[in-house]
Amino acid sequence: MRLRNVKNANEIVNNCEFLIKNPERYKGKYNTLFNNNNPIYLEVGMGKGSFLIQNAINNPNINYIGVEKMTSILARAIQKISPYNLNNLKVIRADALELANIFDQEIDTLFLNFSDPWPKNRHANRRLTSKIFLQIYDKIFKKEKTVIQKTDNIHLFESSIISLNDYGYKIVDISLDLHNSDKENYMSEYEEKFSKMNIRINYLKAIKK
Ligand SMILES: C[S@@+](CC[C@H](N)C(=O)[O-])C[C@H]1O[C@@H](n2cnc3c(N)ncnc32)[C@H](O)[C@@H]1O
Repeated sequence: MRLRNVKNANEIVNNCEFLIKNPERYKGKYNTLFNNNNPIYLEVGMGKGSFLIQNAINNPNINYIGVEKMTSILARAIQKISPYNLNNLKVIRADALELANIFDQEIDTLFLNFSDPWPKNRHANRRLTSKIFLQIYDKIFKKEKTVIQKTDNIHLFESSIISLNDYGYKIVDISLDLHNSDKENYMSEYEEKFSKMNIRINYLKAIKK
């Protein structure tokens, strides 16, 4: 994600009240952090946060956590989220590779919105739907695992379908043109951008029991 340098990004992130600092300490007990037993939905690579804000406002009985590895991008998201005072939305600064150290069988749904496509074959392992990541997600999900992906990139989409299918997920919903379907949808920043350019958005929902 291209971004002009955010001034004081570290300060913004470190002073954020809804940033979960040292998230490992809540491993297995995020319900105590939210103070309820509502389901927890995660977005990995949350970018600037629009998708999560709209979801959290419209679904007060679901807890949302955004994970983002880039401090400058997370700082922008925090600036966007702050005015809404949402009790059901928190953020974590981390790489997806660390997720199994942070969560233990407590996530209901994982959103992957416009993840980096890593087009070269030699980088296929870095795609957030590669086997390496699916193995990590196994440890953070409750028994039933739900992955929802949106992407403009047909190659990433194809690779995700194959990888999820090979790993035992069943694709239960799919669209090659999400914005011309009747599905309820909240747009992310990337999605807004692609939508304005009339680029079709691919969508899938996959479940593993
Ligand atoms: C192309 S942007 C999409 C952002 C947002 N989801 C959207 O749709 O507007 C991908 C984001 O994922 C983040 N990201 C990529 N790999 C990641 C990883 N392994 N762990 C956490 N965040 C990651 C990047 O820093 C970037 O903010």
